[in-house]
Amino acid sequence: MKKTLLAALLFSAALILGSCQKSDTTVCSPDGNITFSVSLKDGNPVYSVSKDGSAVLTESALGFTLKGEEQPMAFCEAKLLGTDSCDQTWEQVWGEERYVRNNYNEMTVRLSETGECARYVDLIVRVFDDGFGFRYSFPEQENLGEFAIAEENTEFRFTQDHEAWWLQRSIPYYEGYGIKTHISQVDTAQTPFTIETGEGKYFAIHEANLTDYAKMSLTPSGENGLRAVLTPWADGTKVYASTPCVTPWRTIILADDINELASSRIMLNLNEPCALEDVSWVRPGKYLGIWWTLHKDHYTWYYGPRHGATTEHTMRYIDFAAENGMSAVLVEGWNKGWDGNWMKNSTGFSFTEAYPDYDFDKIMKYAESKGVQMVIHNEYAANTEHYFSQIHDAYKLYSDYGMHYIKTGNVNLLMDGIEEHDGQYAVNRRRFIVETAAQYQICVDEHEPAMPTGIHRTYPNLMTYEGIRGQEHDAWEQEGGNKPEHQTVCPFIRGLAGPMDYTFGTFDFSNPNYPFCRVMTTLAKQLAQYVVIYSPLQMASDDPYAYEGKKAFDFIKDVPCDWHESRVLDAVIGDYVITARRDRNSEDWYLGAITDENARTLTTELSFLEPGVEYTAQIYADGPDASYETNPESVSYSEKTVSSADTLEMTLATSGGCAVRFVKR
Ligand code: NOJ
Ligand code: CA
Repeated sequence: MKKTLLAALLFSAALILGSCQKSDTTVCSPDGNITFSVSLKDGNPVYSVSKDGSAVLTESALGFTLKGEEQPMAFCEAKLLGTDSCDQTWEQVWGEERYVRNNYNEMTVRLSETGECARYVDLIVRVFDDGFGFRYSFPEQENLGEFAIAEENTEFRFTQDHEAWWLQRSIPYYEGYGIKTHISQVDTAQTPFTIETGEGKYFAIHEANLTDYAKMSLTPSGENGLRAVLTPWADGTKVYASTPCVTPWRTIILADDINELASSRIMLNLNEPCALEDVSWVRPGKYLGIWWTLHKDHYTWYYGPRHGATTEHTMRYIDFAAENGMSAVLVEGWNKGWDGNWMKNSTGFSFTEAYPDYDFDKIMKYAESKGVQMVIHNEYAANTEHYFSQIHDAYKLYSDYGMHYIKTGNVNLLMDGIEEHDGQYAVNRRRFIVETAAQYQICVDEHEPAMPTGIHRTYPNLMTYEGIRGQEHDAWEQEGGNKPEHQTVCPFIRGLAGPMDYTFGTFDFSNPNYPFCRVMTTLAKQLAQYVVIYSPLQMASDDPYAYEGKKAFDFIKDVPCDWHESRVLDAVIGDYVITARRDRNSEDWYLGAITDENARTLTTELSFLEPGVEYTAQIYADGPDASYETNPESVSYSEKTVSSADTLEMTLATSGGCAVRFVKR
């Protein structure tokens, strides 16, 4: 009796602690577990967040310092302006999951200065069951018209010096390794910035809807805190703006486990719905490419005896794509301008004229006749001035041939020789490309992008992005290729921001021209990455010769890149990942398991399969003698009848993997 009473008392205490304590400027998640409050501290607005009754963020600064002013805007009033809520489900054009629930409570708090020239900014907060986002809105007002932001003062002050996975801001094009440190050891970090709390919980800071603004990175601030750092213009200004305007959303996922982290759709929910009326031409798919052999220096981009983009060579790729159900072929080095130092002389690029040994008209017509799309490469070397002078002619030419894909390249540290890649200027220039491409029904694979923030919800023709240390580094990197743990980290930092054009698919691991460098995985891990590392456009990057007659190529042919649902079944960031996804267009499930440099045996329940149904599991595993260093190509194939009541045991070699297709019997 006593025990029951005590339990009841404890239960109600937990309820009181865990439930939402509402004050005027507080908003709670729909399930009541997350509380976001705005208050004034020493006359300045701050926000605090708790989850399940425990503080997550404590009194963190809000606001701005405007250009030409020495002090931050002096808000001394925080007043509730209104509340709202939403519970809707929307359908993605493509994605990791077909239907997305958008369920939040919202409040808007007006932060005001006082005095004769007082100005105000509205803080809009949306709290979901798995985290929150907030943005600043500058309404049209008497004392604020055109203005420039010198500093955004947003802070994220945690309760402990957590450990986190993050990417250093100093690494060009985001092509680096995720590293793990305490918050206090960060220099300047890119987002997504993923905290491991050590209790199986994860917090991830990022942003949504980066439009007409500068990208945010993070630097330490006070005890256990981080603050926003905006990428500046060359003149030091962070953002030029005029009222009315809004900032991107600052988002934090608060996940109870790693699957919740990977499955959070806060970023997508905080972007605008699809702006395109007709999306029938926006199709996920797999592409081959005259690409890997260029990076391995077997062929050249430029015209000459080893030119890769010849008519004959391209036709071979188109034939192979058509015979094997691949939707597209990428060709790099087809257009004039690759001779000499193209990064310096980027005005030499033509986006409509091909080299003499590449019969553009013949190839486009041939591809069309075979039902194969061309991914037309537009490396503009970050020279948008030059690119934009041809953009309409180029896109019209491609679309007149019925082609719907381009891959853009932005190699050069500064855009137009002056501005950083993720400052406001570059963000706007890239948006112009995506919007213009949409007018011509063209999908974009954006290389050297700004970090994705969910714009692909609004413009689903922005299909995939690099912004990752991808497979190209395995061709020529002096230090030998991407280290084996890298792919186990990617899904949980960069991957939270959206699709990754990592471009795996290696079957031939030799690299005669750069013998110091190689793909450091097994072949089975190459296959498993098609499930673990998401993109609606996936590359099969090896030369078709490498695939001919190989049973393992069946997995690449079969694996979809558009999903009904996705789940991370188990993962330890930096060690291993097991992901399962259900095909959007069939009832097949796929599973990918990958490991770092350590061989390991992984076991997973198959409870995601439909209960009471038998499936054939088609299993592509590391061969018994496989090892990424000495025998990467060893792969075994077996079949097994399984059901949702079974468990699957997988033996992974060093940097190995296992890829499985489950087909209903
Ligand atoms: C860098 C891109 O990431 C790569 O895929 C491409 O081949 C080269 N630039 C050349 O444009
Ligand atoms: Ca690159």
